[in-house]
Amino acid sequence: MIAGVNEFYDIENFAVDWRKKFYGKPLAVMLPRNTNEVSRLISLINRTTNISIVPQGGNTGLAGGGTPNEHGNQVVLSLRRLNEIRTIDFLNRTLIAEAGCSLLNLQKVASEHKLYFPLDFSSRDSASLGGLLATDAGGLSVLKYGTAKDFCLGLEVVLANGEVWHGLRSLRKDNSGYSLKDLFIGSEGTLGIITAASMRLFSPVEKRLTYVAMTVNLSSAIELFGELCSVTQDNVLAFEFMEKNAINLVRRYFPERVPVNFDEHLNSVICIIELSAAFEKNSTSYSSISEAFANNQLCTYYTKCSETMRKTIWQLRESITFASAEDGPQVKNDISLPLSRIPDFVDYITQKLLKVHPHGDFINFGHIGDGNLHFNFAPFFRRMSCKGEIKRQDIVNFLKENEEVIRGMINDAVVLHDGSITAEHGIGKLRKSENHRLKSDVELRIMRTIKNSIDPKNILNPEVLL
Ligand code: MLT
Ligand code: ZN
Repeated sequence: MIAGVNEFYDIENFAVDWRKKFYGKPLAVMLPRNTNEVSRLISLINRTTNISIVPQGGNTGLAGGGTPNEHGNQVVLSLRRLNEIRTIDFLNRTLIAEAGCSLLNLQKVASEHKLYFPLDFSSRDSASLGGLLATDAGGLSVLKYGTAKDFCLGLEVVLANGEVWHGLRSLRKDNSGYSLKDLFIGSEGTLGIITAASMRLFSPVEKRLTYVAMTVNLSSAIELFGELCSVTQDNVLAFEFMEKNAINLVRRYFPERVPVNFDEHLNSVICIIELSAAFEKNSTSYSSISEAFANNQLCTYYTKCSETMRKTIWQLRESITFASAEDGPQVKNDISLPLSRIPDFVDYITQKLLKVHPHGDFINFGHIGDGNLHFNFAPFFRRMSCKGEIKRQDIVNFLKENEEVIRGMINDAVVLHDGSITAEHGIGKLRKSENHRLKSDVELRIMRTIKNSIDPKNILNPEVLL
């Protein structure tokens, strides 16, 4: 246990990622209360020790970027006590908040001011602003608002020598040199510690139309998405998908969360689509939307959701990650591809991999509108018709031997189809060796040059990314 002021924390919460894939042994956990304390701690560590620092937000990451190593020579710097909303500017439509503010809190505060903080995903109650920016998080509403970097206007960052960069500007336009904030966003704590950020806010979409649609395959889902983009002038708020295995995985652990009409043999791709209800007021657009859904070349079934059904379908979608955590380790992937290449990619790698591992299968779901698939490989999925048949330890042992090779095969196919090995989860420790293998020498050299120039002693999260 670690004592803070009026709080007690279990050290395990800082040492292990939530999915229990990365186990570390922190030398210490530091819980500063403000930017000044972060700065003093880092400066002291930099000047007087050889230890390195792992910054950590809500510890909800999926790539091991916030977990210390097992050697006991890294300290965790948790930002969770820096959790103030410093300002909210209604007219400028921005807020400045500290790194430890949870996503849920940011959403609530914005909503209290009749504004909207647009990022959203299932770990919203723990994920924190600093982590969202350090990984350039995406999630369920990227289609309209982009990823974290797209609506971040400025940052406050503590550098490796303890100096503070006060870059908390709240400007839509700022053309005064290199965009330094974009260097820190997505850098996974390797270049500096984000202690606060200025974020844009938006007008809330008062009412949404939510549809559930079934398509025979991913190709048709992508076509349906294209059609809806055309008839709404690119105003699709969300377009998510889940394949059969993803739904059956939820059925295995949370059967009550699967709607009764989603039979376990249902071989369709289930899509969740959200549009602004403002379209209902414009009869021409609304009938084009209805026509797109009614085109049975694209869509075999669709329904407009009631509020209850809307909650049910989103709960199902958000439960996939939790069901897969219950199920045991998988080769988790977070790839992005040009939409036009997705069907070929999926056919190509499915055939290739299942030839070698016929007991496994892909749990494929994600953000099809963003070209972002969580294309996870569960090595014994076809043998696990009932839970408990394969022990967690069997999967762990299998993955010890095979995970890197399987990941390598998938990533080679991603590159062959012009994609990226991570869309929104980041490199962390999970994909570090693959990043080295697949990134060009030029790119790696530029990244290392930047890292060496602002963290020459390599004390900031040295075991991730590069
Ligand atoms: C999601 O979209 O649900 C996630 O990014 C989580 C995951 O891949 O498990
Ligand atoms: Zn996702």
